[in-house]
Amino acid sequence: MICLKNIAVLASGEGTNLQAIMDAVDKGEIAGKVVLVISDRHEAKALVRARKKNIRALFIDPAEYGGRADYDSALVAALQKENVDLVVMAGFMRMLSATMIDTFRGKIMNIHPSLLPSFPGCEGVKQAMEHGVKVTGCTVHFVDEGLDTGPIIIQDSVVVLQDDTLETLQQRIHSVEYRSYIRAIDLYCRDMIKVEGRRCIIHEKQG
Ligand code: GRF
Repeated sequence: MICLKNIAVLASGEGTNLQAIMDAVDKGEIAGKVVLVISDRHEAKALVRARKKNIRALFIDPAEYGGRADYDSALVAALQKENVDLVVMAGFMRMLSATMIDTFRGKIMNIHPSLLPSFPGCEGVKQAMEHGVKVTGCTVHFVDEGLDTGPIIIQDSVVVLQDDTLETLQQRIHSVEYRSYIRAIDLYCRDMIKVEGRRCIIHEKQG
């Protein structure tokens, strides 16, 4: 029998990925449970979504901390208190410092709305469109010290249509993000991802 992993989600905004993850947990599609949601924005809809599911939702206010390392010490304390096994970043608009990354190395995932290593950073969809790419998509990766540079777990592609606007393209990327993230989180929870250098090897069978 698989022991369910404790998942924490960090989110700054709308939280539609969080919603998809919580719904997938409820349907038994992820071998884990969301035990904590943290936001750096008081008004984040992600916090409301978590509370609706009776999941502990914390606002940790950046204004109360001196800098990134201080803030991340508060994050680490909150995560350790809940015995978190996996930290999932879902639209968390802060770069993590060494304090977080060293404590949870190999246990932090992020989702990015482009096919990395193309178009990292916070304008991935816009830059891909402006560049005129015909195919873009999303990437789930482990988080390291760089900006969207960690080992890639899963990618999924989205065709750019000639009449796409930023909004329509963003929307289609969003809908593939959900299934990619759910799959990546479930693989992690089942101990099916092995990292060899930059490569993530997926073991379809456990053991
Ligand atoms: C997603 O597009 C994700 O790729 C990016 O932030 C967005 C979060 O959206 N990192 P939501 O808050 O989950 O709706």
